Amino acid sequence: MARQKEPNKIFAGKTAIITGASSGIGRATALTLAKAGAAVVVSARRKDRLAKVASDIQAKGGKALAITGDASLTSDTDRLLEKTLEWKEGGRKYDIVVANAGRGLAGGTLSSDNFQWEEVYNTNVLGTAYLMRSAAKYFIEHKRGDIVAIGSVVGRNISPFSAFYGSSKFAIGAITEGLRQEICKYGVRVSLVMPGIVVSEFQKVAGYNEDNFYKGIAHMGKLLEPQAIADGICWLLIQPPNVNVSELIIRPTGQNYP
Ligand SMILES: NC(=O)c1ccc[n+]([C@@H]2O[C@H](COP(=O)([O-])OP(=O)(O)OC[C@H]3O[C@@H](n4cnc5c(N)ncnc54)[C@H](OP(=O)(O)O)[C@@H]3O)[C@@H](O)[C@H]2O)c1
Repeated sequence: MARQKEPNKIFAGKTAIITGASSGIGRATALTLAKAGAAVVVSARRKDRLAKVASDIQAKGGKALAITGDASLTSDTDRLLEKTLEWKEGGRKYDIVVANAGRGLAGGTLSSDNFQWEEVYNTNVLGTAYLMRSAAKYFIEHKRGDIVAIGSVVGRNISPFSAFYGSSKFAIGAITEGLRQEICKYGVRVSLVMPGIVVSEFQKVAGYNEDNFYKGIAHMGKLLEPQAIADGICWLLIQPPNVNVSELIIRPTGQNYP
């Protein structure tokens, strides 16, 4: 007889890879999936921060493996996937990939430079696409799996406070939906989660200040915590295998635009 899962351990037996897990949405997603029984492989560049996420999970009885790496480098992504497949506690496999690593960039095209453009595109678009393609190949072989890409509401409606960054999220939205169409016949689900404004380290990294951001959102009221996005990700992952929530937008209630 099949062993019943504890009701609150809905992801028991699953292994999830989460990039950008050293803070914000990625961290919250890793903690939430681990709490619900998943073995989680967390990745980001900051070693200490990542190790702390893993040790927080382990301290609560969860399974976690930290692999430091830069999501914009294909060699680091290859290493992340290889190490995951070697991880005994994770069952030497993976079932869920949350492609979350990314950075914002305040303002539009005039106010940003080439270096920033490259960093945004190499991480948010090319790095994410590379991870999704690698995971897709693995999942096609195994006829199952979930790929969740983190887009943005500014990847649906462009906004002057982050127009260039928004363009990278438009691209990832297109890549995600295209990939979904390519691989749905293999039983692999692909989802795009588009958060509205979430309070995290994102704003500081993007370079938002009073003039280019905070004044414009002052009327929106209470913004989101990363947990709101983590909960949305978990919700779409627990749908029956024939249900693919291919797009999910989660905004603060008071966010009228974008
Ligand atoms: N916050 C928002 O309002 C918002 C809204 C819509 C969408 N999003 C998207 O949500 C995702 C997570 O953002 P967040 O709000 O959680 O921001 P955050 O707190 O700044 O977290 C970003 C995460 O990505 C990692 N990261 C950034 N560049 C990386 C790289 N080159 N290689 C590996 N890891 C990298 C960071 O870790 P290290 O620095 O340690 O590498 C960190 O763990 C991003 O894709 C972002 O675009 C955020």
